[in-house]
Formats: sequence, structure tokens, C-alpha cells
Amino acid sequence: MSSLREGPTTVVRREDYAPPAYWIDTVELTFDLDPAKTRVLNRMALRRNPAVPAQPLRLDGEELNLARVLVNGAGCSFKMDGGQLVLDNLPSLEEHGDAPFTLEIFTTCAPEKNSQLMGLYVSQGTFFTQCEAEGFRRITYFLDRPDVMASYTVTLRADKQRYPVLLSNGNLVESGELADGRHFAKWVDPHRKPCYLFALVAGQLVAREQRIVSRGGQEHLLQVYVRPGDMDKTEHAMNSLMASVAWDEARFGLPLDLERFMIVATSDFNMGAMENKGLNIFNTKYVLANSATATDTDFANIESVVGHEYFHNWTGNRVTCRDWFQLSLKEGLTVFRDQEFSMDLCAEASARAVKRIEDVRVLRTAQFPEDAGPMAHPVRPDSYVEINNFYTVTVYEKGAEVVRMMQTLVGREGFARGMKLYFERHDGQAVTCDHFAQALADANPDSALARLLEPFKRWYSQAGTPRVRAEGHYDAAARRYTLSLTQRCAPTPGQALKQPFVIPVALGLLDAEGRELPLAPEQRLFVLTEVSQSLVFDGVDSEPVPSLLRGFSAPVVLECDYSDEQLLILLANDSDPFNRWEAGQRLALRRALAAIAAPGAVDAPLDAAFIEAMRAVLRHERLDAAFKELALTLPSETYIAEQLEVVDPQRVHAVREAMREQLATALQADWVWAYEAHKDNGAYRPDPLSAGRRALAGLALAMLCLQARRSGDAVWPGKAYQRFKDAGNMTDRFNALSALVVADHPLAREALTRFHAMFRDEALVLDKWFALQAGAPDRGGNVLPAVKQLMAHRDFNPRNPNRARSVIFSYCNANPGAFHRADAAGYVFWSERVIEIDRFNPQVAARLARALDRWRKLAEPYRGAAREAIARVAAQTELSNDVREVVTRALS
Ligand code: ARG
Ligand code: ZN
Repeated sequence: MSSLREGPTTVVRREDYAPPAYWIDTVELTFDLDPAKTRVLNRMALRRNPAVPAQPLRLDGEELNLARVLVNGAGCSFKMDGGQLVLDNLPSLEEHGDAPFTLEIFTTCAPEKNSQLMGLYVSQGTFFTQCEAEGFRRITYFLDRPDVMASYTVTLRADKQRYPVLLSNGNLVESGELADGRHFAKWVDPHRKPCYLFALVAGQLVAREQRIVSRGGQEHLLQVYVRPGDMDKTEHAMNSLMASVAWDEARFGLPLDLERFMIVATSDFNMGAMENKGLNIFNTKYVLANSATATDTDFANIESVVGHEYFHNWTGNRVTCRDWFQLSLKEGLTVFRDQEFSMDLCAEASARAVKRIEDVRVLRTAQFPEDAGPMAHPVRPDSYVEINNFYTVTVYEKGAEVVRMMQTLVGREGFARGMKLYFERHDGQAVTCDHFAQALADANPDSALARLLEPFKRWYSQAGTPRVRAEGHYDAAARRYTLSLTQRCAPTPGQALKQPFVIPVALGLLDAEGRELPLAPEQRLFVLTEVSQSLVFDGVDSEPVPSLLRGFSAPVVLECDYSDEQLLILLANDSDPFNRWEAGQRLALRRALAAIAAPGAVDAPLDAAFIEAMRAVLRHERLDAAFKELALTLPSETYIAEQLEVVDPQRVHAVREAMREQLATALQADWVWAYEAHKDNGAYRPDPLSAGRRALAGLALAMLCLQARRSGDAVWPGKAYQRFKDAGNMTDRFNALSALVVADHPLAREALTRFHAMFRDEALVLDKWFALQAGAPDRGGNVLPAVKQLMAHRDFNPRNPNRARSVIFSYCNANPGAFHRADAAGYVFWSERVIEIDRFNPQVAARLARALDRWRKLAEPYRGAAREAIARVAAQTELSNDVREVVTRALS
């Protein structure tokens, strides 16, 4: 730790927020696009903000070449200060100087050299922008903060042959030819916006188009732009976009407010997608799909990301964030909306429940560890060094849970009323999380939320995952059941003590036969507000089994000393599908933890009762396939590790593998049945029901290949290989390939070679090919050498974020059994990659740097070796703020 050097980093604090000293009313941007040297002319109309003491104008800028500054058409003096352009003798600074003035700034930048993919960059010969959070300053000098909202007019000029399509926000008002084979397009955005929502795209693209008429009778043009050749992969994105428009109108009365709405796909993108006004820019991963190249998971992700970005048009764009600490105002709310959207698109209630289980699984395997680690922060952080490090599962997924709890407290209709009031009050404004919560409470004055608003908002200010301990006591003589609930929350960085959270606990009681006891509606939702509270149920004839936190009604860890018998009752009977699944997970987790703690070699961790319960789920006549697949999937290694004080990742891996093998063997005949009964689904459709059948067939095949590995049987690997060759869609094909790879069968090599040959021109499919190998179960330390070989493959390119993720992240972040090596070689590899990637893409490097967040939990020798690897990164003199912040916090 002594080797840690302090970089020139500044901490930004929420409490230091001050309104801007100037407003920018209009912006006229003219671009002469050239990959080597793009010229940007920026004409702004500004005003001093009279609410703030007069002070110089400080404009943000990064990697810009400044050629000229004119104030009201005349040259003026300026100075540079830490990258900012400072104007300190503006007319506004003289007496009575509150008249508007114009500022004209001429700069150039080099998009082809922009490897960070922030600001204006080139991907495969096409220009793209990414401005959130602070990328606009890499395009021109500006007040790069979300509370400065302006009207934009954008003119793009470029070579017509190389860049036939010229796009920006809003409406196309003019286009035409210029001299020298160049052309131009002029776009006007009718809505004021913060600069992080600015976008431009220029290149050779084609569009799938769809005209729609909204409920109010307005016509709109929807477009999905892709590279020529990808047109056959745009139908699903367009369908998802149309469904999104219809859903936001139907559920929240929020219409599309633009004549034209565009989505553009790029294969070089740091994140998933970006909600630029009227011109969403997407990672190709979340746009392109057809049945031959994309899996069911890809189809589902596309639906939710297309929805997410579209829903931002109201939650984010029409009402935006005052400052970046309020990021969850738009992200938590919009994740909640996209989750609801996907659930509402499910025709069956069971599919809704499956979606909920999947969302909770993400929260618990990614956000709970974050909340318990060195990067823990509240949903509304108090400080940051680099805002890009705070686009986290806490801000997004936990933020969505906070919004969901509010909906639980005011009801679905009350929530819609709250949303309505929120837009009535704040349309066109840049606001805070408090404004949102206040609107929901004010629209529902009689609700628990209104009564408990101040304590409820601790969900925004306190980090850490609360733990709720439940204890039941049955008094047979009094026919009374008492349930006591106690909450606590461990300290997190900078927050030693926490005040109690407001925790909605949805619950039910089952009798010993699994029948639901009748409860009054108010008994079915208990709101825990104190450290400790008790609930009393009278007239209970026998000791009930409590079903607590139904639907995962709050983002907490529920501790309850269930007996195996009670969990088996819940697994077999609970009317709440989430808790039914959860009971199975608890049974499995208990066995995993026992086997991990037991001395000696791992031997048959599962007992007959558990295996029979799993068989009963698998063979159940009414449960649907998607649910079965989730229930038969054991808790992940990451999730199991989180339950331990000290983690030996190899032991966790070995135990989970042993459990899987035991389930594979003990249920062999049942897996055969499951595979045969679910493998044929007719023509491919990505709906949840048939996707669930494919998922279960895929799991069955994987189990059968695993069992064959043990028994030496050749039939199932042979069938898997056949399936791999004959499959009619990518889901079945990839599942078959994965079954062979995971079982490490000799046929896997051949299948991988074929797969690569088949899809050599499909970048997204090659990502799967890389990821599968980098994420394969470790057999005697074989994965790391394989990963190094993959990095030497001609298709590998670390500068493409998707490809880097498919190899490096799949290994370091998603393959604990292979990454945590006793010889520390995994950590050495990690530190080298973090340092290497940081030189060209700090955002991606900082994500990778988080792979060792939980190093303190590791057993030796892992712990010491991990600390050393982190220290090695921290000792670099030239590190980005992004990576510096992550490793500094990890070591502190
Ligand atoms: N607002 C985008 C979304 O969630 C994410 C953009 C994040 N970009 C970044 N550079 N951190 O839809
Ligand atoms: Zn978002």
C-alpha cells in the first residue's frame, strides 16, 4: 500500500452543487467531418445567471485544438485553466451586464485517434458520438453539465460518397450538395436538452423504416440504421421499438414527442446503448438479431434495452438530472420501466414471474457484492472522482428496486398518478431524486409512502444491503403466530452507522400441507420501519410456514431459520413463484455451504430429499419450462461466495461442480425425458414460453453431457454434436456447443472449429465463441493458457470493447474457478490487461479493474496475491482517473 501514489485527482461532492453562472439558450453547431481533423464551429447565445454572483465564464474542454473565440462577433481575450477555457472580460461582467451575448468557438479534433469512444469517434469508417456523461467537452468547449439545457441546430458537412447518411437529433430541415463531392444536412431539435443528449452519426448506413400513428393521431417515422448487410437482423429491434412506443402510451400516457425516432447500431461502444434525443446509439449487441445468429437471451436483452432507451425519452430527456449524483433519477426509474415493460409483454403470469426471478438474480449476484465491497455507494452517491465509475448496478438495478418499492407502497395506480404529477411539475427541468419521490408521495397523500417519505429516502442516501432477520413463534394454546422482524445494515465506506430502512415485506402463511392461510390485505404487506417489530396473527390452527418478502419486495437479505421441511413445503406449494424458486435456492445453498465447510475432499454433497425435490420440480405437470430451468440451476459461484466470510474460490467451484455432477447422475433419466419433451419447438419465435422450453432442453443436454463425461458414455455427446450441426436456431446450436465445451468432450474442439468457420463474418457470434472458451470450467489450469491463445487469435482486438469483454472479462469477471489460481497467474494477467487497456480506453479498463473488488474476502494465498496485483496497478504513474479511483478504493 505504501507504493500507492496520489494522482492529480479531484473529488466532486454532491453538497458542493451550485447552479451554473451562465445559461446557454441556443447552440448552432457546424461540423466539417473528417476522420483526421474535424472542424467544429460552435455559435452559442448565452446569458449570465442573475441568481449567481457575477464570475468569469468557464467552459469545459478536452483534447480540443482551439482556433478562434469571438464574443458578439469580435475577438476577445481568454485564458486556459486546467483544460477549461476561461473568459474573464465578458460584457456580462460589467455593470448591468445581464444582456444576452453570443460566443463563437472554432475548434478541431481528431475522431480517428479517439480510442476512448467518448466524444466524436470513428467506428468502421462511420462517425459516432457518445456524450454521456462528460463527452461533449471532447467535441467543443461548453458548460458540460446536465442542468444547462439549450436548443440545438446542427449542420453536418462531409464527403457524400463516404458519408452518405448524416444524422443528428430532432428533425431534418434541409439537405443538399456542396462543392468537391461534399454534401450537408441540417437538423433542428425542437426540444431543449442538456449536451449529454447530443448525437451525430455519419457514414454508410441503411435503415429499416416503419411509419406509425400514435393514439393521438400523430404520424411518426421509426428508423433502425445498421451497416449494409445487417438489414436482415433489424426486425426484432423494430418490433421492440414499436412495442415500446405503444406501452409508454398505454401504461403511463407518455407519447412519442418527435416526428422521427432513430436507432443506430455501432460495433464499437463502451456500454449498452445511449438515449440521445431522437437519435439513440446502440451497441450492435442490443440491436442485431435473427434466429440464426442470436440467442433467446439476446432477443430478450434487445427488447429491454430498446425499451430502456426509448423510455428515457421521458424519464431522462424531458425531465433530466440536475447533476450526475442524481443519475438514478433517470437510470433507476428507467430500468424499473424497462423491467415492467418486459413483464407486461408476457402473455402468461408465469413468464412475468420468471422475468422477476432473472432480474433479482442479477441484483443479488452483481449489486449485493458491490454494496458489500470497496466501491459501495448509495443509490445517490455523495462523491466521485470519475462519474463514469458510477454507472453501476447500484445506481441502475438497486435504483430500480427503490422505485419498485415505491410502487409497492402506493399501488400500481398510485404510481401512475405519481408519474403524472412528476411530469406536470417538472417537464423541461433538471431535477433531483427528491423531486421524484416528492411527486409520488404528493400524488398519494394517504399512502404509506407519504407518511414515511423522509425515512424511505434513506434508500437513496445509505449504502449497503440491509439484512432482515425473521423469527416465528407459534403459541398453540392461544392459536397465535408471532413473527418478529429485525433489520441491520453493515457499515460501508464513509457510513459507519445506518438508520433503519423502510422495508416493504410482502408475505403469506402456509399450513403444513402447503395451503395458503387466508389473510386480510393489510396483513399481506407489512412495512418494517423500526429496527425491530413484531406481527401477530390470531386464529392460526397449527404452526404455519411463513412465505416472506414475496416477489422480492425489497432489496434485502432475508435471514430465516427455515427447516428443510419448511423449505420443501414452500418449494412444492408456495403460490408466490419467486419464493417457490427461492426455497429451492435456499436448499441448494445450504448444502453448498455445508460441503464447503466440511473437512476433506468434496464428496456427494446432495442428499436424497433434495434430489427428490428437484426431480419433482423437473417432472412437475403444471410448472412451466422456464421456471424449471431456473429452479434446477444452482446458485452461482459468486452468489455462494457472498455468503461466506472467507472464500476459497477453488473450493466453491469444486463443491458446485460436484453438486452439478450429482444432479446430472441422479436425475439422468429425468434429464433424458426433459430433453426429449422440450427439444422440438417448431419454427423459431423468441417468446418467453418457447424460449423457456429451449432453456430447459439446453440445461438437460448440458447435464446429460456432464453425466456422460463421468460414465464415459458416448451417446449424449454424439447427440449434442448432431444437435449442434442440425440446430435450426442459434439458441439450440449454442446450447449444444456449450454442453460439449463445458463437459470438455473431445468433440468440443471440432464443434468450435466448425462454429468459427460458420460465423467468421458475424462479429457478435464470434464474441460468443470467444466468451464460451474464456468462461469454460477450469480443468487443471487450462483456461488461462487458452485465454492467452485466444488473445493471439487474428479475430481478437482489445480495442473493440465487445471483443475485449468476450475474452478478458469472461475470464476475469465471470469465471472465478479459473481466474483465482493458487499461482496468482490469473491476477497477474488481470493487472497487465488493466494497465494495457487503460492506455487507450479508461472506461473499459476501470470496469475490468473491478474484478478484484472482493479481494479482502479471499482466503490465502489468493488474498495476498490479489492485493499485490492491485498494488501493482496502483503503482503505475500514468493511470486514468477512472482506474485510479477503483484501485485506490480497493486498497483503502
Ligand atoms: N444512459 C445510458 C443508458 O443507461 C448509459 C450511458 C453511459 N455512458 C457512460 N459513458 N458512462 O441507457
Ligand atoms: Zn439508461
